[in-house]
Amino acid sequence: MEFKEIKELDAKNYMTVFARQNICFTHGKGSKLYDVAGNEYIDMGGGIAVNCLGHDDPELTQAICEQAHKLIHVSNLYYNIPQAELCEKLLDGTIFDRVFLCNSGAEANEGAIKLIRKHFYKKGEHRPKIITANGSFHGRTIATVTATGQEKYSRPFAPLPAGFTHVPYNDFAALKDEADDTTAAIILEVIQGESGVLPADYDYIVNAYALAKSRGILFAIDEVQTGMGRTGKMFGFEHYGIQPDIITLAKGLGGGVPIGAVLARGEAAVAFAPGEHGTTFGGNPLSCAAANVIVDKLKNGLLEEAAKKGEYLMGKLSKLKKFNFVNDVRGKGLLVGVNLTDKVKNTEIVGKMAASGVIVLTAGNNTLRFAPAYTISKEEIDTACDKLMELFARTNV
Ligand SMILES: Cc1ncc(COP(=O)(O)O)c(C=O)c1O
Repeated sequence: MEFKEIKELDAKNYMTVFARQNICFTHGKGSKLYDVAGNEYIDMGGGIAVNCLGHDDPELTQAICEQAHKLIHVSNLYYNIPQAELCEKLLDGTIFDRVFLCNSGAEANEGAIKLIRKHFYKKGEHRPKIITANGSFHGRTIATVTATGQEKYSRPFAPLPAGFTHVPYNDFAALKDEADDTTAAIILEVIQGESGVLPADYDYIVNAYALAKSRGILFAIDEVQTGMGRTGKMFGFEHYGIQPDIITLAKGLGGGVPIGAVLARGEAAVAFAPGEHGTTFGGNPLSCAAANVIVDKLKNGLLEEAAKKGEYLMGKLSKLKKFNFVNDVRGKGLLVGVNLTDKVKNTEIVGKMAASGVIVLTAGNNTLRFAPAYTISKEEIDTACDKLMELFARTNV
């Protein structure tokens, strides 16, 4: 099919929700992507922090193929082997006691919200309030757009579910003012990925956690983007020495195969009774077979590789600070943001980088976002960063 025809079909058929780049990828290998015209790109976006093993990883592909031959799907009314294995592996060595598997980040957060509400319902405590941060992103379902601290995502969809309040991010005083005896949970990201790769201050997270603990409030971290090694640790919260009650995962967990998870500890982990939550596809054998490969690899050297590559990428991108239109270079591990002044548009840079053969993502607040595969080579990082350096050097503002 010609690219022109693909675009025409998309324009005619697909609901108008995405502002797509002018590229149609056909295949990939490692951190290289190829489009319909045969052009090669270095993938610095990783499918928005998803493809942690890059493209066509031999072990991941083999596991998916082998599982597809055996069993793609069975209902959760029955047990399945890859699911049992994955849950054990995911929880092993963590502070968490139970897992629920689903299909996406939004669905994981939706599950976490229900778990939080059910926990207090069961205890007979009236705690309707869930506090999240301004600028946060938690998904596209009606509850998760409400939890998301960016009105542009929820305003058109009113009436919204009650019980969500938002406070300025990285502002402990504001959080302390808002938290009270009617608060069920505080849900935060340790790096706000969508709104500009904004890391939480160490003291903010540590104080927020202590506040939650002192007031019987559940502390939840949305690790959809930061989990599964993305920040150089298995979970982003580990950088802060805290023990959240609940975390949510998706993106990297399946290396590209859709899967999400809610992990919980203590009383919250056993809040649901049979029939109170569920999913048709979540935790099916195919997605679990993929996630098993990711977890195995992370526990056998991939995590350290992600941390090392992250430091290397940060070192390279930090050199861009010399340009007067670069505000900041920030992030952790392989989730790095280059924040630009309003003299340069991130979307224009992304377009020019694609034309030069490098896929970069945007994030909010005029930021360029980098979230490549953990397996990316140093040479690929060098080439991508050199091209960006050259482009910035040619950018006169
Ligand atoms: C922190 C965070 N939470 C939730 C989501 C929603 O995940 P999904 O698009 O898989 O529903 C995202 C997606 O970008 C995210 O970054």
